[in-house]
Amino acid sequence: MRKKIIAANWKMNLTIGEAEAFLDTFLLEIGEESGADIVIAPAFTALSKVAERLSKSSTIKLAAQNMSFEKSGAFTGEVSAAMLRDLYVRYVILGHSERRTLFGETDEIVNKKVRAAHEASLKPILCVGETLAERDADRVEEVLETQLRGSLAGMNSKEIAETVIAYEPVWAIGTGRVASPEQAQAAHAFIRKTIALIADPSVAEKIRIQYGGSVKPDNAKTLMSQPDIDGALVGGASLDPRAFTEIVKAAASCE
Ligand code: 13P
Repeated sequence: MRKKIIAANWKMNLTIGEAEAFLDTFLLEIGEESGADIVIAPAFTALSKVAERLSKSSTIKLAAQNMSFEKSGAFTGEVSAAMLRDLYVRYVILGHSERRTLFGETDEIVNKKVRAAHEASLKPILCVGETLAERDADRVEEVLETQLRGSLAGMNSKEIAETVIAYEPVWAIGTGRVASPEQAQAAHAFIRKTIALIADPSVAEKIRIQYGGSVKPDNAKTLMSQPDIDGALVGGASLDPRAFTEIVKAAASCE
């Protein structure tokens, strides 16, 4: 049985003060809920304050939204895995479609980052997903397989099992146009089958695959009730502490 994992991707939102206000409400609302793993990914600038506020919580873990694959040195503007470890960060979102399309990240770059994360004992949340044009051209499986093989190249079974995969169809991100539970389940089942080929069937059975793209309180439970959907990576709705609480509770209530 895979425990559900819900992650808040705040993207370039919430200043330190706004992050604190979110936590004031969220920590009260969420209480001792432990039926699902909860991860929050603030902007770099709010990591330190959020880490401080979460230090007493054993159930909520901290994530970064990106990191450098380099260890240290002359890389202006970059943040290393060791710097994230300093702030008690446990997860790092890598290969998000916004990084791929707006900042030119290729599978090769994403692969270097995923490997650097594992080396530093950070768990990657690796994002994959097709564009609308690729879906319309019937290329979903080809795109997912290329992204998975490219991004996970050279990793051993243990590392792959500890990676979280996030299936985020690009056309569903921030558009309010959510994938149907059937569309999402089909993609997740394909991802799991591909992981069995890249690693082995026991890793495929263990690995957690989140769905991301317009997840809201009213569609979360139906999506996460699908057999291969093990949680959600939430953008817009994760900025509202009550909506995010409802999504976590929906996950915890799934069989
Ligand atoms: P939305 O939930 O706003 O569609 O964003 C999804 C996403 O990109 C999470 O990483």
